[in-house]
Amino acid sequence: MVILFGVMVMKNEEKTFEIKKTFSILIVCWLIIIGAFMMWTINNEKGSVYIYATNEARAGFEKDLLYRYWSTIHGGTYVPVTEHTPPNPYLNHITERDILTPSGRKLTLVNPAYMTRQVHELGEKLYGMKGHITSLNPIRSENKPDDWEVESLKSFENGTIESLAIKIFEGAEYLRLMRPLIVEKSCLKCHAKQGYVEGNIRGGISISVPLKSYKAVSIKNIKNLVIIFGVIALLGMVGLFWVGLLMNRKELDRCIAEQALKEATDISRDNMINQHVTTSRCLDALARGNSVKCSTNHSNGSSNFFRNNRSAAVVPSDRFV
Ligand code: HEC
Repeated sequence: MVILFGVMVMKNEEKTFEIKKTFSILIVCWLIIIGAFMMWTINNEKGSVYIYATNEARAGFEKDLLYRYWSTIHGGTYVPVTEHTPPNPYLNHITERDILTPSGRKLTLVNPAYMTRQVHELGEKLYGMKGHITSLNPIRSENKPDDWEVESLKSFENGTIESLAIKIFEGAEYLRLMRPLIVEKSCLKCHAKQGYVEGNIRGGISISVPLKSYKAVSIKNIKNLVIIFGVIALLGMVGLFWVGLLMNRKELDRCIAEQALKEATDISRDNMINQHVTTSRCLDALARGNSVKCSTNHSNGSSNFFRNNRSAAVVPSDRFV
């Protein structure tokens, strides 16, 4: 019995170890899956900074095109001469560059590039977004391109439609986007004398979007993601641990039941053997004609068995008479 119990305990310990092992593997797998999913989401979140900044830069470029188009179809715009908006020396050849209103106000013609420059200055002051209109062949020397713009403008000549890069200006990170400006019929009024024809690339506009505010939002989102994934990972671990405990307890119950069943089977088998021995002795005695008092110390079941079989036991004794 003690050996049997020992074997049972060992079996149960083996099973418990197996369950523990399986659930440890499951928990590790769960943590790996959640970890991988978290890294993927964080990477996406980091990437979204560049997507949002690119979209902002594209929107900025398209807005530039839009008001430039408006200005171009009007052949430029007349605005009051101020300290900030003096007459453009590069429009000297235009006869009506400067005009006087009937009341005596001085107006000057602002070409699209001049307008773009002033809008970019305002944009940088108000929103921190830098813009630069430029060309490989600039009329105005200040419009000359920087190294990255030179590369981009050259790539436009080879058919590239957009150039993107991350650059650092004065210690701050910027997303830079550049697209070409194509010569249209309306541009030729001022640019034909430089030899441009419709369809040529006159230059381009580069937009630089500061990444600081996007990154600040992204860091906040990443912190929230880490907390959310941490809670999910923890809940999953607790769930798995709980299921593991339940299975372990079930296994223990099953083991106890199995042990009880085994013990009960062994007892009844022992009873049967004892009963068989007693019955044989009685039959022998009856056969020898002795009056016997057959009794058994075992369970009622055993006595009943003997009683029920007594007549059967007498019959064969006749054969011995
Ligand atoms: C009313 C005249 C006028 C029209 C119309 C005009 N431009 Fe210009 N553009 C100029 C002048 C003058 C400059 C150079 C000085 C400056 O920055 O104002 C210039 C500058 C530029 C520049 C910057 C590089 C440089 O040469 O300094 C680009 C690019 C440009 N123009 C493209 C265009 C395109 C494309 C169109 C048509 C969609 C166009 N312009 C229409 C007058 C004009």
